[in-house]
Amino acid sequence: MVNYKNIGLVNSRGLFTDAITGGYAIPAFNFNNMEQMQAIIAACVETKSPVILQVSSGARKYANQTLLRYMAQGAVEYAKELGVAVPIVLHLDHGDTFELCKSCIEYGFSSVMIDGSHHDYAKNVELTAQVVEYAHQYDVTVEGELGVLAGIEDDVKAEHHTYTQPEEVEDFVKKTGVDSLAISIGTSHGAFKFKPGQKPEIRLDILAEIEKRIPGFPIVLHGASSVPQDIVAEINHYGGKLKDSIGIPEEQLRAAAKSAVCKINIDSDGRLAMTAAIRKVFVEQPAEFDPRKYLGPARDKLKALYVHKIKEVLGSDNKA
Ligand code: G3H
Ligand code: 13P
Ligand code: ZN
Repeated sequence: MVNYKNIGLVNSRGLFTDAITGGYAIPAFNFNNMEQMQAIIAACVETKSPVILQVSSGARKYANQTLLRYMAQGAVEYAKELGVAVPIVLHLDHGDTFELCKSCIEYGFSSVMIDGSHHDYAKNVELTAQVVEYAHQYDVTVEGELGVLAGIEDDVKAEHHTYTQPEEVEDFVKKTGVDSLAISIGTSHGAFKFKPGQKPEIRLDILAEIEKRIPGFPIVLHGASSVPQDIVAEINHYGGKLKDSIGIPEEQLRAAAKSAVCKINIDSDGRLAMTAAIRKVFVEQPAEFDPRKYLGPARDKLKALYVHKIKEVLGSDNKA
């Protein structure tokens, strides 16, 4: 058993309280490898922002959970080396079973998500409460989810959004004891969130209704990539074939960050940024074969993207 406090990580509780009071959101960026982790930490140190490092089940399979945990531990030291010991949360993204959450807690995670949103309400409550009971013994914070995002989530494909029902949130929070709640208000995972001709819009009215029912309770937005069109154009310019990639307009996320939304998950935009940089090197320098020569620019572009998100969308700069 590794206690996260012994490796310099923090849970999300204090960060969320400050974010709600201050009208900003904490960035939750996914990482699967060293370059992504370095870009996240460098961006957060430069902007003095707290950060949630997220690990998905896919990341665990890809990179090995031991390596990821030591990388997060290394991130704490790396931030100090870069000059600012920003608060770092190590969070399990989309945990789907009690056993997975338990294993992550034993591995040193300071926060876990139990995503029971694909189950019926009663089962979601039961599963979430079970994780909360275990996690709170170690002062690990827990994120639950109510409502289903359209698209692919945890290998489950949903054709349509099932928006979170505001009338359920109070009961869910009370019965489960969760520390934060992910909601479905029109965001979705990936780079194809809206069909061409559809108005890219999230339901800020449902968010306001939810806030009324649980005032001051930390709300989380998944699927919050904006799919920057200049980056998509760059990918396609360098031989990519992305068609009709549409994300959530940044101004809508900015509005959400000012409310009780205090954690915003961004992964796809980072993937796009890295892809654009790598494609550029491959096209412009076809003789290059040193991975540092294309992963380095990818890391730089990722860092610049995260600095932009922190300053212009989340507002978490200078909050560390
Ligand atoms: O919620 C999904 C995140 O973007 C992680 O994606 O499961 O492909 O690692 P992944
Ligand atoms: P995006 O695919 O919109 O980046 O969402 C990421 C996410 O929600 C991770 O949990
Ligand atoms: Zn998600």
